[in-house]
Amino acid sequence: MADIPVLTIDGPSGSGKGTIAQLLAKELGWHYLDSGALYRVLAQAAIKHHVDLDNEQKLAVMAHELDLVFSLDNDTLKVMLEGEDVSTIIRSEQAGNAASKVAALPLVRAALLERQRAFRQLPGLVTDGRDMGTVVFPDANYKVFLTASAEVRAERRHKQLKEKGIESKLSDLISEISERDSRDSQREVAPLRAADDALQLDSTSLGIDAVYKQVRAMCADV
Ligand code: DC
Repeated sequence: MADIPVLTIDGPSGSGKGTIAQLLAKELGWHYLDSGALYRVLAQAAIKHHVDLDNEQKLAVMAHELDLVFSLDNDTLKVMLEGEDVSTIIRSEQAGNAASKVAALPLVRAALLERQRAFRQLPGLVTDGRDMGTVVFPDANYKVFLTASAEVRAERRHKQLKEKGIESKLSDLISEISERDSRDSQREVAPLRAADDALQLDSTSLGIDAVYKQVRAMCADV
């Protein structure tokens, strides 16, 4: 396993890590794991089966047994839960918040560990999340930690939602993002933090192209 290269991109929601990770995976021809989608799908499964989002034992069992398929459909991640396409529903703010709640439970994180590591396949893996470089793939070859101010991240989200025809209030998005940031960074298990050996980038005033160039330069030898 250790000789299969891994590039991790961690950071808070809206930092642009998913976009950069997908671009890199495409260019390098590597596999891609959106680890946040696993927590989002688990939360969705819990809601579907009327399981409380703090029922750790039950959620850990569900995490082990989750009937989940990821695939790429025209460069967009398609997510099937128990045969049902949940790609759109898991992207809502509510789904992100529910994911952040189940992600704070230690037994749930432990149950999803092996599932995440199984994505490490030749010729390589690009993955994004909160603890990819610190816990899931501490031996990753390249690690990035991407941040941006909560205001800028909320503005990006506001724009994305508007493009999809969904109305939202910027002030609500800023408080939701800040609430999620503090839950993700203050939890006891695998909190959001940069690995000591990660390249730290702040995308507050950098466009996606500039961030991409810096990350690509970091792994220029691939
Ligand atoms: O990256 P995202 O916004 O799709 O993630 C949704 C939630 O899942 C996030 O608020 C925290 C949790 N998460 C996590 O705890 N660890 C990861 N590696 C990825 C996501």
